[in-house]
Amino acid sequence: MQLPSKVKIVDVGPRDGLQNEKGEVPAEIKIGLVHRLQDAGLTEIEVTSFVSPKWVPQMADAAQVMAGIERKSGVRYSVLTPNMKGFEAAVASRPDEIVVFAAASEAFSQRNINCSIAESIERFAPVVAAAKAQGIFVRGAISCAVGCPYEGEVAPERVEMVARLLKGIGVQHVGVADTIGVGTPLKVQRAMEAALKHYGIDDVSGHYHDTYGQALGNTLASLEMGVWQYDTSSAGLGGCPYAKGATGNVATEDVVYMLHGMGIDTGIDLDKLIDAGKYISDFLGRKPNSRASTAILNKRAG
Ligand code: HMG
Ligand code: MG
Repeated sequence: MQLPSKVKIVDVGPRDGLQNEKGEVPAEIKIGLVHRLQDAGLTEIEVTSFVSPKWVPQMADAAQVMAGIERKSGVRYSVLTPNMKGFEAAVASRPDEIVVFAAASEAFSQRNINCSIAESIERFAPVVAAAKAQGIFVRGAISCAVGCPYEGEVAPERVEMVARLLKGIGVQHVGVADTIGVGTPLKVQRAMEAALKHYGIDDVSGHYHDTYGQALGNTLASLEMGVWQYDTSSAGLGGCPYAKGATGNVATEDVVYMLHGMGIDTGIDLDKLIDAGKYISDFLGRKPNSRASTAILNKRAG
């Protein structure tokens, strides 16, 4: 066991959380969520995606959302950019970090970004170079790192291959993503070990969807490896448009509750975090998808 004493959480709720919402979420609500998350102490927020609005209509207001944020010093704002067109649009919004997203499964790569894994790396290469030339940090995501909605189980060797390809084009950090939340602790550890063949422990993160209720266990399994960076979603919002039935990332509230209970520092104020998740859930007309949030809200009401 080599538990970290501090953990960095990237709240991906405004992006991964909201990208799949069917109803319109106005830019001002998304901005309101970002403001509440930064007030709660989040130091990185994945705000939006510069992707095709035909593919992901909910992210069509990317520039508007980025422009409306009152930036807080010490907070990093990241955005997804699948190609040069997305990167060029994103640059005007001054992101601190961009995310290129590859997959460990060919079928998912085709459905998600309409190209093969090899083609995606070719597309990302100029994006990575342009971002780094402008001092913008580049993170990569490896989707379907344990399982794929089309191909089933994914071998760690696939993750190792994609990590190697991303490293080869200069991507600075990789997130090991269980896109459809099918992973269990040992499988997630194997996927993480594969990424660690090409990236150091400070340059990897876990991105676990919670479809099968395993994401907290998978987070703990990764903590035990020393992984100290995680993507989580406010109120457990979300799902991927190209992974039918998959639910959101593990709720930020649940991860923060667990970490604080383990004496691990996050810099996050859990009460304010609960308020942020309640704000967006109230707008969406549903309860936060977080056990910790439900418990704390019940306690407040009582
Ligand atoms: P394509 O159709 O192959 O691209 O899409 P294209 O270059 O042939 O262009 C087709 C049209 O899209 C053109 O417009 C382009 O201008 C436009 P038209 O001439 O038909 O009017 N276009 C764009 N518009 C805005 N922004 C852009 C852009 N690029 C092209 N950047 C593309 C390729 C990647 C763009 C498309 O497949 C796409 O947008 N896919 C959406 C992918 C996505 O957002 N998925 C969800 C996020 S990833 C995720 O959730 C996983 C993650 O959370 C980790 C995990 O859990 O696994 C990160
Ligand atoms: Mg995701």
